[in-house]
Amino acid sequence: MLRFETAGESHGECLVATLTGLPAGIPISVEAIDRDLWRRQQGYGRGGRMKIENDHAEIVAGVRHSKTIGSPVAILIRNRDWENWKDVLAVEDTGGAENPRKPVTRPRPGHADLPGALKYDFHDARYILERASARETAARVAVGGLSKALLAPFGIGIASHSIAVGPVRLARPAAWDEIAALSRREPVVLGCVDLETEARMKAVVDEAYRTGDTVGGVFEVVARGLPPGLGSHVTWDTRLDGRLAQAIVSIQAVKGVEIGLAAEGAAEFGSKVQDTIHYDREGRRFTRGANRAGGLEGGMTNGQDVVVRGMLKPISTLRRPLESSDLATKEAAPAAYERSDVCVVPAAGVIGEAMAAFVLAQAFLEKFGGDSLPEIRRNVEGYLEQVKSF
Ligand SMILES: Cc1cc2nc3c(=O)[nH]c(=O)nc-3n(C[C@H](O)[C@H](O)[C@H](O)COP(=O)(O)O)c2cc1C
Repeated sequence: MLRFETAGESHGECLVATLTGLPAGIPISVEAIDRDLWRRQQGYGRGGRMKIENDHAEIVAGVRHSKTIGSPVAILIRNRDWENWKDVLAVEDTGGAENPRKPVTRPRPGHADLPGALKYDFHDARYILERASARETAARVAVGGLSKALLAPFGIGIASHSIAVGPVRLARPAAWDEIAALSRREPVVLGCVDLETEARMKAVVDEAYRTGDTVGGVFEVVARGLPPGLGSHVTWDTRLDGRLAQAIVSIQAVKGVEIGLAAEGAAEFGSKVQDTIHYDREGRRFTRGANRAGGLEGGMTNGQDVVVRGMLKPISTLRRPLESSDLATKEAAPAAYERSDVCVVPAAGVIGEAMAAFVLAQAFLEKFGGDSLPEIRRNVEGYLEQVKSF
């Protein structure tokens, strides 16, 4: 079973990720993982923090001579900002006359501050926001890079793009090549395939900057090259649609998920929504009239692109703060403000890629098993032959 864990606070020493269950012999490129880490830090609307950090995946276990060896992979990503937080977040309490902590006693509506403080019994939300922060997703992106590396030898690729920023929405479908090309584009801007739409998205972010506000949006993750039959209809927790939904909604600030054209489909008659089935005798394969289902039927991949969207609420730290109440005095007080992002849609897309890559890699290994790349390859080839001669 492929599984991962992360640890680390936003301004602590470093982030740590471990990924267990990766077979031996998978080629790993640190450069490719660093590229995704860089992409996660980009986008028009990011705050000052991302100018300080320059993330690098330091693999300290499980990869030797650029290939996995079957043992757990451990990755460190150091926080450069730690230098400025050594006293605030010291591991050992050294006492001292001066209180070096930077208490957060005015919880931000929409953040983990208040429920976290109540749950863990802190009258200062500092330790809550340190862990709730999406800085943690750098570790997830590194895990996603390893997951992509498992899928890549089988011709499976994963990419993302921004569908909406605030009220501005991409009005046309995006082709795979356009979406995949975005991962090579610099600067990232807002990660939209259509430059005219992107310019209007940028104007929305500018308005948020001007007014001390924030904006949300929608990203779309597309996975191409998946065989049919990953995931299963037989039990609720093996359904791949449900597993992908959980992975995407677990991303900080993502409040909704859509598989295929779910929202559009809900307003249509069935005859307009289901993807018709055809057979290509020459290619010896089933084909489909469209891909409105987003590549998933009955909780299984159907061989089409898997398409999943994440809906982000606007960032909850506002320069023009909302009303709040002080955790200590209970008096009305404006919510705390700490250097913050204004728009994170393209970055969230990169995190969405990572989470989707992990879930798909997990489902892939469940289907094909194997402890080494050659063994998995044999299993995949056998299955693909079965599908072809069906
Ligand atoms: C890439 C990314 C960057 C984020 N940056 C910030 C930020 O700078 N300030 C902030 O208040 N929230 C930020 N968030 C959102 C918070 O982490 C999130 O709202 C918070 O942890 C509460 O979780 P919830 O919104 O999922 O309920 C970011 C989210 C993502 C995905």
